[in-house]
Amino acid sequence: MSQDVALERLVVVGAGTMGRGIAQAAAVAGIPTSLVDLSDHTLADALAHIERTLAGAVARSKLTAEAAREAHARIDAATHLADASRATVVIEAIVENLDAKRDLFSRLDAVSPPEALLATNTSSLSIAAIAAATRSSHRVIGMHFFNPVHIMKLVEVVTHPATGQDAIDRTTALARRLGKQPIVVRDSPGFASSRLGLTLGLEAMRMLEEGVATAEDIDTAMELGYGHPMGPLRVSDIVGLDVRLNIASYLHRTLGGTRFEPPTVLKKKVAAGELGKKSGRGFYEWPPTSS
Ligand code: NAI
Repeated sequence: MSQDVALERLVVVGAGTMGRGIAQAAAVAGIPTSLVDLSDHTLADALAHIERTLAGAVARSKLTAEAAREAHARIDAATHLADASRATVVIEAIVENLDAKRDLFSRLDAVSPPEALLATNTSSLSIAAIAAATRSSHRVIGMHFFNPVHIMKLVEVVTHPATGQDAIDRTTALARRLGKQPIVVRDSPGFASSRLGLTLGLEAMRMLEEGVATAEDIDTAMELGYGHPMGPLRVSDIVGLDVRLNIASYLHRTLGGTRFEPPTVLKKKVAAGELGKKSGRGFYEWPPTSS
């Protein structure tokens, strides 16, 4: 274990899909981690999930049984923020709601040591608006992980005008320590990943509307022609068409123009409850009926 790793103490607030994955990645990297959520039930569920994921890694020879046991032992769980008073880094992964995040950050600002990093895993909200809830916005930064955290390599490090260079350096170093590749992005709607990914997704939907090709063939164009692991319509189904519609509407509102105007086919599918994989039908049937 390197000295730097030994010096970090992480608190992850929110033990849902993302928070539990972030806590696991940190614990595997040797960082003592506290996982905070509103109920003991959610925390127990998160710890059991982490244990199962670690066991899967052992079964696939990605981790030794001892390393998995040690990682699990590095994670504490709590329904309060007391551990934030000893944290070097706090990563927030609660519900995607600006008021909830601002409320949490103002409490974190009061309870954490002044030198602790305060990072948010928001996938769309303005980092500056979250930072404005604190009196130390230089240490507030976006640290946008991808789902599933233990597999996806990208972390978007999102900076707003007041973010300090020290916060940027520490966040990129932490991302690398967790085995991720950081990119640094300015606080701008959709950051880099959602904005680019959605551009492709929305254009694919317009092409489908115009009858340019079938969904399968549009996806195959990107998969075989451009080496994308998955075509944009299949990705949209997996992300959730309601989620894509929300983000498209937000980018349309904030960036203007027609680029992100939600296509009719997307609005119709969401209105009909065809949300993609989670509802069993989107641009595809899930689970797929053929192949
Ligand atoms: P989730 O709904 O699975 O988990 C959120 C958790 O936060 C819940 O367990 C909830 O009880 C807890 N929570 C809510 N308010 C809290 C508070 N004040 N204090 C402590 N815990 C609180 O949500 P998910 O999917 O993990 O998303 C979390 C954040 O990560 C959101 O900002 C989301 O936009 C972002 N994100 C999500 C991705 C995804 O694929 N699900 C990908 C990248 C970012």
